[in-house]
Amino acid sequence: MNNTPRITIAIDGFSSCGKSTMAKELAHRIGYIYIDSGAMYRAVTLYCLDNHLITDNHIDREALARAIDSIKITFVTNPATHKQETYLNGVCVEKEIRTMRVSQSVSVVSQIDFVREALVAQQRAMGHAKGIVMDGRDIGTAVFPDAELKIFVTASARVRAERRAAEMEDADIDSIERNITMRDEMDMTREISPLRKAHDAIELDNSHMTIAQQDAWLEEQYNKVIERLKS
Ligand code: DC
Repeated sequence: MNNTPRITIAIDGFSSCGKSTMAKELAHRIGYIYIDSGAMYRAVTLYCLDNHLITDNHIDREALARAIDSIKITFVTNPATHKQETYLNGVCVEKEIRTMRVSQSVSVVSQIDFVREALVAQQRAMGHAKGIVMDGRDIGTAVFPDAELKIFVTASARVRAERRAAEMEDADIDSIERNITMRDEMDMTREISPLRKAHDAIELDNSHMTIAQQDAWLEEQYNKVIERLKS
């Protein structure tokens, strides 16, 4: 019988710093579930935009409060690409949630207390059986404060803008960098669950690391925790 303990892995950090790339890869290697919590905030934001609950960055909180329990977010692995895709009320929205339109409004939506409560409850339910890697902003501080492995990832805003631009068509790096800087500020200064390093998180600045290097580093941290738990 495999006696390797199954743990909870929380990966937090600034936007576009490669958290999801490393989280996905580790989850794949060790056979864990991977959850992109940012995709959940993005899906709620898309719902708001599509249902006209956001106008000029002003949000109709009452209408969203009435709708929140009917917003169902799920993750499904695409059999052709083997990639996990985000579904909003049964419809694949993986592409739409990555657009600038959503990026520009997501900070406003993710500041709302009842949105966070609803999504954190779903995230905890997903991690109930452990064996999960979740990335986000408040995973090590609020969602899973008892996670056995917590990582806090940083990278310079320019490097992050360049990485995001590489994933998009017709990208304007300067405007992406401005959006990233604005979101950093909003993520760190919001009242509920602001982005901050948990006291027991390990910090990683990956500005000058390759993907292979950061994957190897993360696996090493995972192995260390497993060794410690086994001894
Ligand atoms: O990781 P991302 O850029 O896809 O996240 C989108 C937004 O969602 C980001 O601006 C902050 C917010 N977010 C959050 O508030 N809490 C999380 N656990 C994950 C993301």
